Amino acid sequence: MKVFVTGGSGYIGSHTVLQLLREGHEVTVLDNLSNSSEESLARIQELTGKEAGFIKGDILDAALLDRICSENRFDCCIHFAGLKAVGESVQKPWEYYNNNITGTLNLLKALSDHNMKNFIFSSSATVYGDPEVIPITEDCPKGVCTNPYGWTKSMIEQILMDMAKADKEWNIVILRYFNPIGADPSGRIGEDPTGIPNNLMPYVTQVAVGKLEKLGVFGDDYDTPDGTGVRDYIHVSDLADGHIKALKKITEKAGLCIYNLGTGNGVSVLELVHSFEKANGIKIPYVIKDRRPGDIAACYADASKAEAELGWKAEHDIVDMCRDSWRWQSSNPEGYRS
Ligand code: NAD
Ligand code: UD1
Repeated sequence: MKVFVTGGSGYIGSHTVLQLLREGHEVTVLDNLSNSSEESLARIQELTGKEAGFIKGDILDAALLDRICSENRFDCCIHFAGLKAVGESVQKPWEYYNNNITGTLNLLKALSDHNMKNFIFSSSATVYGDPEVIPITEDCPKGVCTNPYGWTKSMIEQILMDMAKADKEWNIVILRYFNPIGADPSGRIGEDPTGIPNNLMPYVTQVAVGKLEKLGVFGDDYDTPDGTGVRDYIHVSDLADGHIKALKKITEKAGLCIYNLGTGNGVSVLELVHSFEKANGIKIPYVIKDRRPGDIAACYADASKAEAELGWKAEHDIVDMCRDSWRWQSSNPEGYRS
């Protein structure tokens, strides 16, 4: 298939582009490089011997999107482009709503105008808010998001549902990711956050590489087995594979479908730290800190719908994730800048 990938040089996008090329698909990436580097695409070419087309550009540029869609016949668009830093979204709500929502509306308009109505969207478990049931099924009601970033995901989902309802030509797959970590086992591509990481695994790997002194564990008094927050960490290569399976679903013309992409296993902060130490033989010093505002105690998926309907299941365990995250970080201490 000919696949248009927005945000394709970023963390999850690059792993998906790698998999798409390996599966023989033709890929065009659009990215403004606001949070990524073209180097990821160069490395994908080195790994696959195949080249993804690259357009440096912005989803806020409606004229550019219209031009791209008039010059190409894409079989599907996978839409990763977006801003994703939770804390920053609280400081700059307008920028987040504008970039993520206006950008997505521009993209949907250009695709629709050129009659290319197959669409896969990167959503997040954050749309469940503090979930009513755990493990979380797709039927679990969406909740109150604690930040503008989360609301952009929730609102874009609503826009997609309304569009699919109004126009049966749309085939849309909404993928709700749990907590992606890890990197391609080659160690050549991975997550490259700018500044001090907000998320747990990049923080842990930067402590391991000596860039940060110690990890702060946000709260040890949650109602969880060891008191620290429980999440469903999923290997980014499994997540990428979920998009390949979603692409097959798109060809079934099933209208709008929603899937959780998680492993179904809850892992606490301290379990992740200890798994990392064991997998890589490195001690991670940590201190217990106060809870982080907006955090919930536990969040993990019931991923059985994706298994039943997409034939997708996460294959990698937490040891693989810790090993691959470390291989990437240790061989690229400055990310793509090194
Ligand atoms: P990322 O920042 O690495 O990738 C996003 C890419 O989009 C970047 O390359 C960035 O340069 C690009 N981009 C941003 N705004 C753009 C614009 N206006 N025009 C063109 N390109 C633009 O993030 P990621 O972790 O790979 O996330 C990919 C998608 O998955 C995002 O939509 C994110 O919200 C979503 N998601 C991520 C996680 C996670 O934990 N990483 C969890 C759930 C959902
Ligand atoms: C966060 C976002 C979520 C987003 C996701 C992926 C919040 C409230 N939620 O999810 O919207 O989709 O990232 O980008 O920010 N932790 C520590 N120390 C740290 C970092 C994290 O103890 O330095 C703990 C957290 O309290 C949590 C767990 O580790 O229990 C995972 O945190 P994180 O990686 O930030 O992901 P989420 O909070 O689940």
